[in-house]
Amino acid sequence: MKIRQAQPLDLESIRRIYNQGIEDRIATLENETKDMAYMQQWYDSHRDRFVILVAEEQGKVVGWASLNPYSLRCAYAGVADLSIYIDRDHRGKGVGSALLTELEEQAKANQFYKIVLFTFPSNQGGQGLYRKLGYREVGVFQNQGVLDGQFIDVMIMEKLFMGS
Ligand SMILES: CC(C)(COP(=O)(O)OP(=O)(O)OC[C@H]1O[C@@H](n2cnc3c(N)ncnc32)[C@H](O)[C@@H]1OP(=O)(O)O)[C@@H](O)C(=O)NCCC(=O)NCCS
Repeated sequence: MKIRQAQPLDLESIRRIYNQGIEDRIATLENETKDMAYMQQWYDSHRDRFVILVAEEQGKVVGWASLNPYSLRCAYAGVADLSIYIDRDHRGKGVGSALLTELEEQAKANQFYKIVLFTFPSNQGGQGLYRKLGYREVGVFQNQGVLDGQFIDVMIMEKLFMGS
């Protein structure tokens, strides 16, 4: 498996994998699949410190992860938010661990001292990955979002790099 920076040519694969995550209803409050115009805007907004990584196996992109702005406030310039999505056929095989490990290196190299993330308490794959890599549960927002007409709880987790 190769982990590398995403390139514009990866965008269709990234979109396909993201849309699987949206359709599966376990990863995000987004409820509509995304078209290429949306993804291009997303890609263009990830500049400089806000890296996008892809995992490649035998020339095929099987997962991606990104560092996203957490807040526009200057005081939070060292805090990044995280997204990670693995192709349905490649989940549970170590791709997420490899991607997130490298994403953390990129975060440190880009002067982030913390990653925060928002996840569903019911997302077992996500919980497994984050806890394995040392993310701490901060708390759970109750009825934080609405998905398909149902209230959804959202858990915040964090990992600090200071001192590591
Ligand atoms: C969540 C996700 C990114 C994890 O990536 P992955 O490649 O499947 O995870 P890994 O294979 O590296 O597994 C990491 C750890 O998580 C745990 N884990 C993985 N899948 C699991 C599952 N279905 N149930 C419980 N634990 C699981 C395991 O402990 C595993 O560590 P181990 O194999 O060393 O024991 C991936 O499953 C995915 O894309 N899911 C759909 C989208 C999504 O939920 N994104 C996150 C939004 S918050």
